[in-house]
Amino acid sequence: MIDNIEKIKKEIQDFNISNEDDLEAFRLEFLSRNGKIQSMFALMGKVPKEQKAEVGKAMNGVKVLAQQKFDDAQLELKKATRKEFGALDDITLPVEPTYAGSFHPLTQALDEMKQIFLRLGFNIADGPELENDFHNFTALNFPPDHPARDMQDTFFVRKSDDQNEQDLVLRTHTSPVQIRLMKNQQPPLRSIMPGRVYRNEAVTAKSYFQFNQVEGLYVDKNVNMGELIETLVMFAKLMYGSDVKYRVRPSYFPFTEPSIEMDVWWENEKGGQWLEILGAGMVDPNVFESVNVDPEIYTGFAFGMGVDRIAMLRYGIDDIRLLYENDIRFLEQFKS
Ligand code: DAH
Repeated sequence: MIDNIEKIKKEIQDFNISNEDDLEAFRLEFLSRNGKIQSMFALMGKVPKEQKAEVGKAMNGVKVLAQQKFDDAQLELKKATRKEFGALDDITLPVEPTYAGSFHPLTQALDEMKQIFLRLGFNIADGPELENDFHNFTALNFPPDHPARDMQDTFFVRKSDDQNEQDLVLRTHTSPVQIRLMKNQQPPLRSIMPGRVYRNEAVTAKSYFQFNQVEGLYVDKNVNMGELIETLVMFAKLMYGSDVKYRVRPSYFPFTEPSIEMDVWWENEKGGQWLEILGAGMVDPNVFESVNVDPEIYTGFAFGMGVDRIAMLRYGIDDIRLLYENDIRFLEQFKS
């Protein structure tokens, strides 16, 4: 009897189950009502009393073995078919991450800049990219022969000889939005004006024919130069960290007096250099007069920041063209 049980055990172990048919054959042979295991138990009555315990134990062992083999094989086959159809083995597993895209580094830098100025009490305004001569130049105190008005720098959309018809340009800076703002709203004003600007420049690692600026304007009674510098330093520290190395230099712009520029120290493998990130100054009284704000009552400061420069410094990008080529290998690095 025991030999017979051992034989069945061996058969179970050697049975190869590699598909559903094998599985069913296995079940019929061993586990079904007429299978070998049931037949084996049917012989129990013939086993002498003193052997019953031993034989019963051995039979049970074989039964458990067969059932276990059947269950395991069934599970494996199920898994295999699930895989084939791409179904999940375990719905509690975390999903594989899918690439959901990311914000462009310019958008990220701009968002940070907006957050900083919103914290400082500025609101956000905007204006058109197609401007007329009055807003882009004249109201900002550009003399008629100023070099910025030259074809070399400016994209003219309409250049007119007719005195009554204004030239139309792609705005060369965001400063014209200051004019639109002051025409529409009385002081006090405290706004930033982000936007895209255009210049007829050769494309190099450092310059591009389009870029982005954030203009700022603060007009009220008794606004002074100290507040301007304080605001700019605060910005630099919030943007680049409190240990940022910066310097403020005197400069010239037609629409501010006095005028300054701010540089930030940029360090890379090749060494370090000062990079200009913005121009600024106290609003020139002539600008106030062009929009009917009384310069005897109000003063103000303005600034114009280069978003591209600021983003390049912030993320260590050394070629402005990368910002406009939309190469996915570049953009992928800015997942936040
Ligand atoms: N508009 C200037 C430019 O594009 C930047 C600028 C300088 C803006 C001084 C200002 C300012 O508002 O006050 O180069």
